[in-house]
Amino acid sequence: MTLANHFELLGQSDAARLGRLTTPHGVVRTPAFMPVGTLGAMKGLHWREVRDAGADIVLGNTYHLMLRPGAERIAALGGLQKFTTWNGPMLTDSGGFQVMSLAQLRKVSEKAVNFRSHIDGAAIELSPERAIEVQLLLGSNIAMQLDECVRLPAERDDIDRAMRLSLRWAERCKRAFETAPDGHMLFGIVQGGDVPELRQQSARGLIEIGFHGYAIGGLAVGEPQEVMLAMIDETAPVLPQDRPRYLMGVGTPEDILEAVARGIDMFDCVMPTRNGRHGVAFTRFGSVNLRNARHADDPRPLDAESSWPSTRNCSRAYLHHLVKSGETLGAMLLSEINIAYYQSLMSGIRAAISNGTFESFRQQTRAHWAQGDI
Ligand code: GUN
Repeated sequence: MTLANHFELLGQSDAARLGRLTTPHGVVRTPAFMPVGTLGAMKGLHWREVRDAGADIVLGNTYHLMLRPGAERIAALGGLQKFTTWNGPMLTDSGGFQVMSLAQLRKVSEKAVNFRSHIDGAAIELSPERAIEVQLLLGSNIAMQLDECVRLPAERDDIDRAMRLSLRWAERCKRAFETAPDGHMLFGIVQGGDVPELRQQSARGLIEIGFHGYAIGGLAVGEPQEVMLAMIDETAPVLPQDRPRYLMGVGTPEDILEAVARGIDMFDCVMPTRNGRHGVAFTRFGSVNLRNARHADDPRPLDAESSWPSTRNCSRAYLHHLVKSGETLGAMLLSEINIAYYQSLMSGIRAAISNGTFESFRQQTRAHWAQGDI
């Protein structure tokens, strides 16, 4: 059976790709940055701000939502989009990665990952089949296979074992997904750590199984940026041209720009909201720490030319004051400013690919970041 393809490649500028992914909840323009709404909420932002900033799609997490409020409950309430009032496209991560970082007493076996909930200690089993069932109950447009992600540095044998287990789980997820309603997509996840041969074996194995899209996982887990980019260089050329490619959990604006240059279409990261809550803004001139005393008397906005009102209007002195005083509004404004910056970066990237000028956009954007905030 051939898988329906919901992705259209619209153009290319060197290796950078412009595309469109169609879901029953709307269209996703790629390259896309997906803000992370782990618990069914974007920390510090209203959904309307996420939408106004230009996000087409957001991410939710199987692990968190299955523990609380529960996948069956969300399904009974009409699904995650209705429940949250974010009525656009949604991708859900499968839970494996979050189990590794959050759950206690976890144990990975061939059958499943068993762990204790970080909320109440309840014993939970997450199998590939259950990961798909939960994501279908949530009603996400794009479900991810269950995988095992190894933190780096790691021994080759451990990377190899986790990659092969992830491939076997990919096959089980594909089978469990066969009953999914039309329009739902399932992405496989390439693992293989920092070992080029294992990355390629993983990608080839997944292509043989066949997915609507292909993610590259197991990166931004402790390795230097050049290793991450080298692994993308090893993997992206192996992946089918006509399917979306998603780099999981990445990253800084620079990581994103460099990954787009290597043929990646989709990204997610908590960085814009998390760093915003910690007083850091992302701007055209790099990142700015608003906690720094040098901002206390500075009447200038972060970027007078920004199209985002808070970026253009709020003085650095005010943002500094809010952050130093621990006001909720400081975290809210910086989260909103950062999500808006990430989305404006993606929109600039898409326009440049469309015009065939991605390489000069890349150089210019990097030159601005290098100039720094003055
Ligand atoms: N998020 C960031 N990296 C990963 C990964 O390797 N696997 C999954 N499932 N989610 C991720």
